[in-house]
Amino acid sequence: MSLNRGQTTVSRAGMEVVQLADAEAVSRAAAEEVVRCARGAVAARGRFTIVLSGGSTPRLLYELLAVSPFREQIDWERVEVFWGDERTVPPDHPDSNFGMARAALLAKVPVPPARVHRMAAERHDRDGAAQEYAAEIARTVAVPSTGEPPVLDLILLGMGPDGHTASLFPHTEAVRETRRWVVRNYVPKLQTDRLTLTVPILNRGAAILFLVAGADKGPVLREVLEGPPDPERLPSQLIRPTVGRLVWLVDRAAAGSLAGTGRVLP
Ligand code: 6PG
Repeated sequence: MSLNRGQTTVSRAGMEVVQLADAEAVSRAAAEEVVRCARGAVAARGRFTIVLSGGSTPRLLYELLAVSPFREQIDWERVEVFWGDERTVPPDHPDSNFGMARAALLAKVPVPPARVHRMAAERHDRDGAAQEYAAEIARTVAVPSTGEPPVLDLILLGMGPDGHTASLFPHTEAVRETRRWVVRNYVPKLQTDRLTLTVPILNRGAAILFLVAGADKGPVLREVLEGPPDPERLPSQLIRPTVGRLVWLVDRAAAGSLAGTGRVLP
């Protein structure tokens, strides 16, 4: 990835950890990466498949993508938008990951509605909704809905202070899923279900981009990146690309706990 000056890159086995000044710098670097991936995918396949993450960190990224200079660099008509996870709330609920992305980005750019693939996690039949979402992914990228997951062009992920990513929370059933691409996952600490993409499909991303910002993420970031393997407790450790590349974009507040080495650019 093209690095501007003032960033620190630490390359570790199969992944790149890029330290940036703050959350805005993380968002700008992520926007550059989205443009890069979109251009490459559209040039190669006439289409760009992106998996959006939820939570609060990506909001600024989505807002940046909706305006110049990034907006005009993406051929929005050729973008297929998916989500990595969703809460069991309707799309207009303040907690909806879809709702956040629609407000910050999708209402402002010309992605054809048929190419915005919302997870219907509010449905009562959540297992059915998960199966149907997997089938929608398969239909969209024209692969069989069973067997090896498709390679999606760019997967955006966040990480919670407990080491979860998407809705793969510590010690929950979905962390151990090895076959299905999308599952309902009951999260005891939230006392609710979530819909989430699973490790098999997440790890098939051609590019996987974690966005992590804030000092509260520091201790878990160090455990995930530098601690011993403990994936049941730290599901973010399970994200290891099988075909593509993994880049962690982290701000200095989160990276402060890292013991890591790496080039320090002035
Ligand atoms: C969700 C997200 C989740 C998120 C992390 C980080 O639905 O909440 O998909 O995995 O990325 O919880 O959230 P913040 O960016 O709000 O810290």
